[in-house]
Parts: sequence; structure tokens; C-alpha cells
Amino acid sequence: MEVNKLQNEFIQSKHKEFSELKKFIDSVKNSQGILMQTLQKAQDIFGYLPLEVQQFISDETNIPLADIYGVVTFYTQFTIEEKGKHRVGVCLGTACYVKGSQDVIDKLADELDIKVGQTTEDKMFTLEATRCLGCCGLAPVMTVDEDVYGNVDPKKVPEIIAKYKNQEV
Ligand code: FES
Repeated sequence: MEVNKLQNEFIQSKHKEFSELKKFIDSVKNSQGILMQTLQKAQDIFGYLPLEVQQFISDETNIPLADIYGVVTFYTQFTIEEKGKHRVGVCLGTACYVKGSQDVIDKLADELDIKVGQTTEDKMFTLEATRCLGCCGLAPVMTVDEDVYGNVDPKKVPEIIAKYKNQEV
């Protein structure tokens, strides 16, 4: 009962997003690869793919929910959990690891008060460990959204994070 209520609240509060998604589904309905396209679009719109969104896609496309869930959990580009506004990544590839990226990630976990894979309570930051980003010469490397920071000294972490916090005010 309670769960249903929460689901309905979610759907009502995202009315605009759901109608945008519906429009998209209608426009690709007869094309191939509709599921991947739709999931990508849905993730762009919502930022993540909770069950309510998967159910909606299932209803609109007649693709069974179990199949959709299978695809969403198989591909790492999709996420069921809501992510923070800013995604903070630290490369744990070999070169970065050797140059101390573990210290960078520890400092970030401390600064944001979350563990790797978690999102801050205010939904501002999600902390992630990444694989080699192809710029090993800059090791250790961290990213915030599209921005890349090289030769990161853990002491500089609070300063980098503050930049994104200040953008919000
Ligand atoms: S190992 Fe970190 S960018 Fe390559």
C-alpha cells in the first residue's frame, strides 16, 4: 500500500518527464533497437532508471518488465539508483593507483562523508571509482562531470569540491 502510494507520488511529480518519454517512444515505436534507445533517452530525462520508469516503458512498448530490468542491470551505462548532480570519479587504473589515487579517493570519501558508490544526502555528489581514463601521464587523475584534474594532491580535494558547491549559490 505504502509502496504504491510512493510510486504514484513519483509518477505525479514527474508528469512532465513521463510525457516527454512517451513522445519519444511514440517517435521510435516502429524502429529497431527501440529498447536501448528508449532506456538511453529515459536515463537522459530522469538521470536514472527506477522501477517506475521501467514499468512505464514496459507498458508503452509491450516489452516484459523482466527483460527491461535484465538490460538495465547488465549495462553499466544504466543506473537504477539516483545519482548526485555532480559525479566525482577517481581513476583506480594501475598508473593512477601507483601514484596514490587511493589517497585521493579516501580524502574525497572523507570530505563528502560517503563511501565509493554512494551519493551525498543533499544529492549533490556521487563518488565513483573509474578504470583507466587514458590520460595516465596525468596520474593520479580525478574527474568531476566532464572536468578532468591531473596530478591531484589529496590536499587539493576540498578546494576542487568547493568549486562545485559554490556554483550552486
Ligand atoms: S591509470 Fe588512470 S588514467 Fe590511466
